[in-house]
Amino acid sequence: MAVSHSSHSPSSAASIADTRTALLKRAARDAMDYLEGVDARSVAPTAKAVSALNSLRGPLPPGPTSAETVLHLLNEYGSPATVAKNNGRFFGFVNGGCLPAALAASWMVSAWDQNAAFFVQSPTAVVLEDIALEWVRELLGLPAGTGGAVVTGATMANFTALAAARHALLARQGWDCEADGLFGAPPITVVVNEEVHAAVIKALGMLGLGRNRVVRVPADSQGRMRADALPHLDQNTILCLQAGNVNTGAFDPAAAICPAARAAGAWIHVDGAFGLWAATSPEYRKWTKGFEQADSWATDGHKWPNIGYDCGIALVRDPTVLKAAMSIDAAYLALGERREPSHYNPEMSRRARGVELWAGLRSLGRSGMAEIVERTSTHARRFAAGLRAAGYEILNDVVINQVLVSFGSPEKTLATVARLQEEGTCWCGSTVWQGKTAMRISVSSWATTKEDVDRSLAAMIKAAKQ
Ligand SMILES: Cc1ncc(COP(=O)(O)O)c(C=O)c1O
Repeated sequence: MAVSHSSHSPSSAASIADTRTALLKRAARDAMDYLEGVDARSVAPTAKAVSALNSLRGPLPPGPTSAETVLHLLNEYGSPATVAKNNGRFFGFVNGGCLPAALAASWMVSAWDQNAAFFVQSPTAVVLEDIALEWVRELLGLPAGTGGAVVTGATMANFTALAAARHALLARQGWDCEADGLFGAPPITVVVNEEVHAAVIKALGMLGLGRNRVVRVPADSQGRMRADALPHLDQNTILCLQAGNVNTGAFDPAAAICPAARAAGAWIHVDGAFGLWAATSPEYRKWTKGFEQADSWATDGHKWPNIGYDCGIALVRDPTVLKAAMSIDAAYLALGERREPSHYNPEMSRRARGVELWAGLRSLGRSGMAEIVERTSTHARRFAAGLRAAGYEILNDVVINQVLVSFGSPEKTLATVARLQEEGTCWCGSTVWQGKTAMRISVSSWATTKEDVDRSLAAMIKAAKQ
């Protein structure tokens, strides 16, 4: 197509505003058309749509391209090659959809172009982030006074919270790891569930605590840490618990583990990327009992709360420790007394994603969040019952929103997953759970209906029978 050229040098304010308004109206229309069409299309993009992305390759043009043309290229080639996550039938990974209020907020955040590093740069971004963090703390039933950071996802939330843990344990031994690094530092022992999520291991590697230095505690058939197999814990230990296994949804027995771990002086960290949100539901809260005794927690806004990408949350019982691990110091950053996000986050300049978190939670309220937990978990049980009735083996106890199904041999299960993805009604990925190849169904989207479950079940059974 013809590419029209335009200059980005400012002309009159009125003409900039006119051009921008026309462009944004068109972007809004394209986005709405995309969302309206998402139900009718294949969840995975077609091979043709993916290969058409090659049209966007090539060297950067020597001169400008008009913004209209840029938007046209995005919509023409980008939209069809996306994965349709907003139609309620994407069951891969642990991906939610995006709540309408969070989506609208993200448009506002982009229009505002705020830097959420410091209050002076954006009072709105910082105040809404403060409010949202407090709402999350309350929703998850965590101790008053807990502080936190809004980051990109649970990987970074684990990183941030574990940086606080590292600081606290080394400070107890008189070592300032932020100032002096880790060479020569007293050793820290990190204890994890053998079914720990890879994101925690990655975070430990980034922190210099080592991917391989961890002590792995045996897990049971659901992936729960065995309380009877814990090693010696002391005040130089970080104990990483898990609230919600990515495959089974199972929770470590925190109520059985935490009192002794606390008494031993260990730092207890919880990876609760999605599972911690079960605390919002009277029906599912039982699984999260005991996790409130921890010292730090990592969770995601973009998983069960359906805030949209990206949004992770790190929480630390003693916020002064998080600040000690993350604060930044420079003359031009002389600041007041209030909580400044950059002193609690790995980043300095950052998107105002706390605004999207605020908007999504405000639109849900307490009951709305609990309903997502309950509805998606009911859908998960419907999947399990339907697949079992069709003769297939469910490998996990379906306690929340995760289902593992085997269609027979590993080859048959993998072929079923491939056919299902190709057919396009819904999307599920595969995994290996304790030696058995399985298809994972993670019901995480607020938009999934009973009809979506039934349509998807029919597609799964058809793919398995082919
Ligand atoms: C238990 C658990 N921890 C950590 C992560 C990583 O989360 P993110 O992709 O938001 O970094 C996931 C992702 O599924 C998870 O399930």
